[in-house]
Amino acid sequence: SAPLRTHAAARGKFIGAALATSPLSNENSYRTIAATEFNQVTAENAMKWDSTEPSQGQFNFSGADAIVNFATQNDMQVHGHTLVWHNQTPGWVQNLGASAMRTAMQNHISQVVGRYADNPAVVSWDVVNEAFEDNGNYRTSFWYNTLGQGYIADAFRAARAADPDARLCINDYNTEGINAKSTAIYNLVSSLRQQGVPVDCVGFQTHLAIQYGFPNDFQQNLERFAALGVQVRITELDVRMQMPRSSSKDATQATYYRNVVNACMAVTACAGVTIWGFTDKYSWVPDTFSGQGAALIYDENYQQKPSYTAVHDALAGG
Ligand code: G3I
Repeated sequence: SAPLRTHAAARGKFIGAALATSPLSNENSYRTIAATEFNQVTAENAMKWDSTEPSQGQFNFSGADAIVNFATQNDMQVHGHTLVWHNQTPGWVQNLGASAMRTAMQNHISQVVGRYADNPAVVSWDVVNEAFEDNGNYRTSFWYNTLGQGYIADAFRAARAADPDARLCINDYNTEGINAKSTAIYNLVSSLRQQGVPVDCVGFQTHLAIQYGFPNDFQQNLERFAALGVQVRITELDVRMQMPRSSSKDATQATYYRNVVNACMAVTACAGVTIWGFTDKYSWVPDTFSGQGAALIYDENYQQKPSYTAVHDALAGG
């Protein structure tokens, strides 16, 4: 049966995966599945600040370029991830005063976005990542504490200046349903767009867990954002479970994957779905949530799971 990307393309959507540079460089199965099944890629880590500008003004694009070159060779789009975040940002940034921090942020955005501005594969960016707390307050990150909420508008303006054609996104987790956090982002995006700040897109990470239930108002939430005039996208989908796997947990997981893909398919403004990896061999989940895992659509031996079939059939319109 046809790969995921064939069905997604027929529906005018992308189906993507976050990729890690190490297996991309040395594992044939990893490369082959990534290229065959997906038409969009996000760098899992290689475009983050600690990779691209580990010390001030010293840029390193080796990992980022490897991802972009792989995408170009395989006719995949690249979503840049991520420019302004509180994690994986070097200490030298965090310790700057306000004026120097703002300048460093603008320079970082200018250099990283600018490098790929003329590259047709790189079409969009997570400009600001995880700026809110679950209760809807601004996250009191070093960005917010030093620069105040204005850093968000400044970051989007800098990204637009660096690439007028790139689609610029704000991205967060626990925002799939209608809740305090998603409403805070909704209000911010509405206000920024009224002020002419170039926010084009909202990313919903969608790190789900079968034990917490599925957010049944997901499609409704996507629709309210779409009504603001922005693109929406699923940026980091995975569905973890308490280990060990069982056929019953796999089946529940498959329904979550199917529901997410169906929600995106039902919303015209939803550009596509990116899964945060594809094989359980490489996933952030076990490192972060002790005892949990098996969150992806291939097992650790690159065998397709029921969640693969669910994604496939939802993309195929089944
Ligand atoms: O590269 C170093 C290596 O040199 C070192 O020996 C090793 C020892 O710990 O660490 C390696 O870095 C790790 C890096 O991944 C690359 O593998 C970090 O420790 C580890 O913390 C880091 O985790 C990443 C995480 O973001 C950190 O913030 C995950 O791979 C990545 O999947 C995850 O992705 C985030 C998204 O960017 C934003 N949304 C949430 C999502 C999941 O946390």
